[in-house]
Amino acid sequence: MTCLHLGDTAPDFTAPTSEGEISFHEWKGDSWAILFSHPADFTPVCTTELGRVGLMSEAWARRNTKVIALSVDSVEDHHRWKPDIEDVVHTSIDYPIIADPDKKVAELYDMIHPGEGDASSVRSVFIIDPANRIRLMMTYPKSAGRNFDEILRVLDALQMNDLGPFATPADWQPGDRVIVSNDIPTEEAKQRFGDLEVVKPYLRYTASTGR
Ligand code: BEZ
Repeated sequence: MTCLHLGDTAPDFTAPTSEGEISFHEWKGDSWAILFSHPADFTPVCTTELGRVGLMSEAWARRNTKVIALSVDSVEDHHRWKPDIEDVVHTSIDYPIIADPDKKVAELYDMIHPGEGDASSVRSVFIIDPANRIRLMMTYPKSAGRNFDEILRVLDALQMNDLGPFATPADWQPGDRVIVSNDIPTEEAKQRFGDLEVVKPYLRYTASTGR
């Protein structure tokens, strides 16, 4: 098992998928990527999750982000299950689903948690930036479907963090004010970001740039 941390290079791998064999780094290129695992094909929560990700395909594309799913099922199972997902959400699933029956990728990314029942993958999420660095990791239990609006929101927050010396406050949404990094002295921040609001010496807001 690999112990992955934020900032690490996302491990590369080659694996069969519903769209043919993929070499992860080559497939990802210099996009952002969301690699997310689910426990099993033909299960209810997973069907809703993979459907929701498919419904959000324009939102991912607008953020230069590729999405890729994974379970320890076979390519044949993915091909048989995909029409069910498409039937449930009335949209096509236009992203690859990794088939990982030998658990090679799941173990590389520590997606198997024995306390969750069996040796299938739990609901892991990795957000990976254009330089292939892991920027966010989330682990949900098998019983709780993920909130993909939150995953989109934190993707926006990470992309905002990269636009300047900005952090994002609790519950931040695109368009909300951002927090100026404490690396920037207040006088300099006032010059650079004219509308600085100083709530505390360590909590300074400015208007968000970009999205
Ligand atoms: C589901 O997707 O519904 C599910 C899969 C595995 C365990 C529990 C729920």
